[in-house]
Formats: sequence, structure tokens, C-alpha cells
Amino acid sequence: MIASGIGMACALTLAKDGAAGVMIADLDLAAARAVTAKCQQVATNPMFRAEATQVDVTDEGSVEAAAASMASILGRIDYCVHCAGIGQPRNVQVADSDLSELRHQLEVNATGTFLVIREVATIMKAQELQQLSSLLGDHRGATRGTIVVLGSASSYVATPGMGMYTASKHAIMGLVKNAAIDHIQHGIRVNAVCPSWVNTPMLQKVTAVSPELEELIRSLVPISRIANAEEVADVVAFLFPAPGLRKTIRHITGYNEAGQSVFLSTDCGDRHRDMAEGRAVANILYSSRETPIDLTDNRDIQAAKEAEAPIHIPNGTVVRMIDFGPNVESPLHRVISVDYGVVLEGEFRLILDSGEERIMRQGDFCVQRATAHKWHNITGGGTLPGRMLWILVDCGDVEIGGEKMKGYLGTLAKEYVGVEGMEEDVNAALEGK
Ligand SMILES: NC(=O)c1ccc[n+]([C@@H]2O[C@H](COP(=O)([O-])OP(=O)(O)OC[C@H]3O[C@@H](n4cnc5c(N)ncnc54)[C@H](O)[C@@H]3O)[C@@H](O)[C@H]2O)c1
Repeated sequence: MIASGIGMACALTLAKDGAAGVMIADLDLAAARAVTAKCQQVATNPMFRAEATQVDVTDEGSVEAAAASMASILGRIDYCVHCAGIGQPRNVQVADSDLSELRHQLEVNATGTFLVIREVATIMKAQELQQLSSLLGDHRGATRGTIVVLGSASSYVATPGMGMYTASKHAIMGLVKNAAIDHIQHGIRVNAVCPSWVNTPMLQKVTAVSPELEELIRSLVPISRIANAEEVADVVAFLFPAPGLRKTIRHITGYNEAGQSVFLSTDCGDRHRDMAEGRAVANILYSSRETPIDLTDNRDIQAAKEAEAPIHIPNGTVVRMIDFGPNVESPLHRVISVDYGVVLEGEFRLILDSGEERIMRQGDFCVQRATAHKWHNITGGGTLPGRMLWILVDCGDVEIGGEKMKGYLGTLAKEYVGVEGMEEDVNAALEGK
């Protein structure tokens, strides 16, 4: 990745989206270092690390060294965004162009792309295949890595006076198309993103000498404005085979010996449990075994680590987040607890056993007071994953018309096989009772 414009936006987007690490490689080492510092500020992965290195993409040895150093420092190269490039410094017709200018454009833009794809694909080919997960249970195959190259609208069309840039960007497209079909058999995907005008230092240099260009761009682009680099970064990140929901980061606080408040841990939560035949994942973010909670010597944290929380804990609390695959529906169930439910991402139907139902969208909240219900993830019309968080607090017996309401889990209990305290429900579910 690169230390300016679109490259910087891509690095920041990946750091924010939970990447484990990034390496910024640019001709300008100081700029690369400045981007690593920015990435550290927005990174959401507790293990995140950002490195900077100098590279000249026109130099074979330099590209080889940068790629090798990334693989050795970060362990592997899952994603490569190749954004190093130059614009055409002057508007000139082909008949009036210098051969040296053409050579320079081809050297940086086309040869640079060739060397980056070649070195990165060579490393990726030797990496272990990683299976791609699917919330739908579909076969998505495996990947050794993904390379995204910045082409341009000039990879497709000609712009008056920009012949040398156009030639170099058409060459990039040819390389990308060939690399894509050459390497897919190794589990390596190669794609190009081809924006038109993007507000980066490259374009700013041109508009500084030709201010009338800004008005021309506005008149040509349907949205009537120049794109910004983050919009391009979103497209680049979309091409990486990452799961649909961001990794959750959990921070737990406590005390140091001097009695000051400190962070005890930063991680991704405890006890990830596959549910709904791999189409949902539960993540216990906290649980406590008694009220009030015993915090002495971090006993609460220790207890949560030692045993996975059952669906709810008598006299205690459970904070459970569940990622649902597209269109997943839970079985009807009732837990004798008060559940505070929040939609973190997506859209859900909350259906009660009376047949009444409500739609809950991101940020919506429900208090589920020991009632029989089920959840249906309808995010994106049933095409996208969704995420909900529940805090389950124990409650007393519920009597309706003098009769005590009973809890039941039905087939939901099967999802809790092996969890202490759930044996009776699990056995009943397995025996079809
Ligand atoms: N800005 C636009 O309007 C626009 C539109 C379409 C495509 N693109 C393409 O997107 C890519 C990124 O452009 P940007 O707008 O972010 O430009 P930018 O000028 O902000 O960034 C380009 C980066 O490439 C680096 N670089 C230049 N020569 C190098 C070399 N030999 N070795 C290593 N690094 C080198 C520069 O130091 C700079 O950090 C380019 O390929 C460009 O052609 C840009």
C-alpha cells in the first residue's frame, strides 16, 4: 500500500475494518511512516501492527525486497493494494509528446504493476490455502490472497491530451486480466478498480495548473462532484474476501496495584459457539454468576473463563452477541429472564407466540420479559448477515392467571450441547421432547 491519496485511504479502511496488520510501501518513506501512525489510531484489531518500508516500484530488487519483508514481518500477505502511480504532468497531444515521457509513464505505471503483481503473487503461491467461511453454508472455496490494482477510467477510454497516461493504464488492465486468469488456479484473485477523478494529491497537482478542470469534471460526473479517496477504498475493501460483519473488540477494565483504573484485557470475546448449522455464531461478551457481582481478585472474569455460560444464569447475567447469517430464523423459545435486546447491525423480526411481531432496525431496543418468541434476520431482504446483542438478567417466577409460566427451548437447546447447566434441555431436545 501507498502513503498518499487512495493508498492511504485503503490502509486506514483496512485498519478500521479489523485487519491484523498493514505494511505501507512507498518511494516516500517519511510519508509511509506518517500513514502507519494514522492507521494505529483507527485500528480495531487488538493485535494490529503497522509497518513502513521504502520501495521503488520501477526497481525489480526493491519490489522483491519490500514484498519479502512484508511476508516475513507480518507472516503472510493476504491482501495487496497496488496504488503506486503517477499522473501525466502536462496535457499534450501524441504528435507533440516526448519518448522519454512515455517511457516514464510506462516504467512507473505499467512496469511497476507488473513487478508488484509478480513478486506478491510469487509469495502468495507459496502460502497455505485458507478456507473461506460461509454463513449460508455454501462452498466458497479457499484463498491464498487477493491483489487489487488501481487502474483508471483511462484503462477504458481516451482523454484528449493524456495519451501516455492512457497507454500506461490500458497496459495495466491487460496485465490484471492476464494475472487474474493465470493465478486463480492457485487461489489468488487479481482485480482492478478503475475510478474516474478522485480528490488526491495526484489530481490536485493537475487542478492547480488547470483550475477549469474542476468545473469540467463536475459537469461530466453524474453525481456532480469529484470522488473522494475513501469511496475508492470502500470498493477496494469490498474486493477482499472478508466476513460481512466487523470483528468485535471487547475491553475489560479493572485495577492495578496502586488502585488506579486500567485496562485488564482487549480481545474479541469468549466462547465463540457455532449455531444454526454454522449459519450463526454466538459470542459471550460477559457473564456473572451472582448478584451483586463479586469483582474481588477478578473472580468474575475467572469464573466466566472457566465455564461457558448457559443460556441464562440464575441470579446472574449473560451478555451474548449473535451474528446471524442471511435469513436465519431461531426456534420459538421462552427463557425465564428479562432480556435487554439491541440490534447492532441489520434488521430483525421479533415474533411472539401470539403471532404479534415487530421489525427492529439498527439501534432499536426491546425488553423481552420472559415471553415466548423467535428472531428472524431479514437484513438486506434476507440476503445479508445481521448482529444482535442481549443482556439476560435473571427474574422471579412469572405467574399468569395463577399459573406459573414455564421456560422451554425446544430445538434451540441443541445449540448448547456440552454447556454445563444445559444438560436437561439438551437431552430433551435430542430426544425430540
Ligand atoms: N486521483 C485520481 O483522480 C485517480 C483516478 C483514477 C486512478 N487513479 C490511480 O490511483 C493510483 C493512486 O493515485 P492517487 O490519486 O492516490 O495518487 P497520489 O499521488 O496521492 O499517490 C501516489 C503514490 O505513489 C507513490 N509513488 C509514485 N511513484 C512511485 C514509485 N516509483 N515507487 C513507489 N511509489 C511511488 C507516491 O509517492 C504517492 O505516495 C494511481 O495508480 C492513479 O493512477 C487516480
